[in-house]
Amino acid sequence: MAVTQLPAHDVTDLALAAEGRRRVEWAEREMPVLRLIRERFDRERPLAGIRIAACLHVTTETANLMRTLEAGGASVALAASNPLSTKDDVAAALVAEYGISTFARRGEDRGTYYRHLNAIADTHPSITMDDGCDLVTLLHGERPAQVAEIMAGTEETTTGVIRLRAMAADGALGFPVVAVNEALTKHLFDNRYGTGQSTVDGILRATNILLAGRHVVVAGYGWVGRGIASRFRGMGANVAVTEVDPVPAIEAIMDGLTVLSMAEAARWGELFITATGDLNVIRAEHFAVMRDGAILANAGHFDAEIDLPALRQLAAGRVRSVRENVEEYDLGGRRLHLIVEGRLVNLSAAEGHPAAVMDMSFANQALSAEYVARHHAELGPQVYDVPGEIDREVARLKLEAMGVAIDVLTPEQVAYLSSWKSGT
Ligand SMILES: NC(=O)c1ccc[n+]([C@@H]2O[C@H](COP(=O)([O-])OP(=O)(O)OC[C@H]3O[C@@H](n4cnc5c(N)ncnc54)[C@H](O)[C@@H]3O)[C@@H](O)[C@H]2O)c1
Repeated sequence: MAVTQLPAHDVTDLALAAEGRRRVEWAEREMPVLRLIRERFDRERPLAGIRIAACLHVTTETANLMRTLEAGGASVALAASNPLSTKDDVAAALVAEYGISTFARRGEDRGTYYRHLNAIADTHPSITMDDGCDLVTLLHGERPAQVAEIMAGTEETTTGVIRLRAMAADGALGFPVVAVNEALTKHLFDNRYGTGQSTVDGILRATNILLAGRHVVVAGYGWVGRGIASRFRGMGANVAVTEVDPVPAIEAIMDGLTVLSMAEAARWGELFITATGDLNVIRAEHFAVMRDGAILANAGHFDAEIDLPALRQLAAGRVRSVRENVEEYDLGGRRLHLIVEGRLVNLSAAEGHPAAVMDMSFANQALSAEYVARHHAELGPQVYDVPGEIDREVARLKLEAMGVAIDVLTPEQVAYLSSWKSGT
């Protein structure tokens, strides 16, 4: 162990720390932007004296973000943002190799999940860092006296941003939050290419099915749905999309996909993946007409997209585990297969996004933490976009790390593009 005095923690097995460290270092090689930020933070210490409570998926990439925040001078406490996405070796490494207070056990029950959230809230943070808004919700709902102590927060994902906007509209939000998800260098790459690839990965690890020729239904054609559909199509699957918004539905058609209602798709599909951020997108009436052997998975933030209570009721106790991370629900002769209890399939059955995309997402997190530490006094209790300069800086650093040069506008082009006088 690299750390002699262990920080407060609750993890599954500290003996996994050395393996966790190797994997954190492997991810680091793919995270050059975060590394550059860490080196600068180490010199400038922009987060000196600040306590950060982070509720994020406990993965190798998150470990590198935590190291970056600590290099900036912050003291950090981390809890899992999902009971099934924790990598136990990474949690162990955070505590024993990097000395970062971590509360996360893969497979923790709901009570433990909230005990862990309360443990990081007990550190009295001045910045919150959330993925899905559970920490902010806990602070506002159960620990309102603490809200005034918090200078600002950041939020990683679409679902969390939706919740925060609803809180701000109700006048219920007590401090400013930067919506990291809204940065172009986050959702264009992480939600689309990161989730696209890692969802294929999670489904293959869980089932090892052939994708070529398979009927795949993707519910929701937002950033995540687009990425998933394009990756499954690239593997030779027949992809159909369901939507509630006519604009992305047309986009899916023009991208060469089939658009169906879920009532139609339920009969057609062999593999269903939800990516809407919505509730009960696949429900009893759909389970009732699905073919024998259909597989169900979710890539949206919460395990609410597939109506699990209805599925359990239809199976009436005829549920068994058929592979690691796959449960079979017998609906009286027809069997449906649910992957990782309907939780985020890419993080629960695989390792989440590749580090190269999390590099940009977490660069936005680190720079947004620095931004709110500097500017919180000028911000009200609203949801803010990541400043455009940060977004462009992340993209610039990523290109630099890739060794890719782009062109620079000539003075003549600058004048032309800002003039309204020239025409035909
Ligand atoms: N698995 C991951 O690693 C990961 C990564 C990023 C985001 N997410 C989560 O994935 C979800 C989607 O994120 P996004 O960025 O694509 O959001 P988005 O807002 O870009 O897209 C969601 C799409 O779903 C559609 N939709 C809503 N209800 C629907 C329904 N009942 N049926 C069909 N379509 C419906 C919407 O019209 C929209 O086009 C969110 O919960 C987000 O937090 C997960």
